[in-house]
Amino acid sequence: MDQRQLKIEAARAALGHVENGMRLGIGTGSTAEEFVRLLAERVADGLDVIGVPTSERTASLCKELGVRLATLDELPELDLTIDGADELDAELTLIKGGGAALLREKIVAAASTKMIVIADKSKVVETVGRFPLPIEVNPFGLAATRLAVEKAAAKLGLEGEVTLREKDGETVVTDGQHFILDASFGRIPDSRALSEALHAIPGVVEHGLFINMATLAIIAAPEGVQTMT
Ligand code: 5RP
Repeated sequence: MDQRQLKIEAARAALGHVENGMRLGIGTGSTAEEFVRLLAERVADGLDVIGVPTSERTASLCKELGVRLATLDELPELDLTIDGADELDAELTLIKGGGAALLREKIVAAASTKMIVIADKSKVVETVGRFPLPIEVNPFGLAATRLAVEKAAAKLGLEGEVTLREKDGETVVTDGQHFILDASFGRIPDSRALSEALHAIPGVVEHGLFINMATLAIIAAPEGVQTMT
């Protein structure tokens, strides 16, 4: 089974948690997109749900496939968010933001009663941090913010490159018009301490550590689909 098929299996299992009438947060990334495709098939068969997308990219796909959307201002309380992750550990601490959508993803997840993470088994780690931590920052004072991030991490014994995310030679700009710093600190044993330290830096808008937000993870492996709570 290839990786795409595993993503589809995880997405299919998550669809089993979607009920008629639900207000859904809809994540971003290739796994979330498989979920949108399956959801759209169910919607075409009569399932009545309304989604709040976590990115412009997800909004476009939902519109193209006929999934009804609302804004978070129209629906400030959601029943369930389904989203992918770049990494997760046994406590369901996540690293997200590989698709540069972490801010909206976190706002939408925080407005949801439940959050289900869908992923293939390669995303499960013992301690998060193998995947560089995405940090969404205000473009103003970028150099000062980057320095502050490095210093705050060093105080926690974390060191590594902090690079401005670029794609095709251009700085990546998020849906919220911010930049992304990718911090290659390696394993992050105390994610809560790092989260607090990053939140204390004025130029940091949000970071990709999701702590105590996911309520269930659906993990697809060649040997089958498993859940983690
Ligand atoms: C986007 C995200 C994605 O959920 C994460 O990058 C996983 O993406 P994929 O399913 O393509 O591996 O956090 O900001």
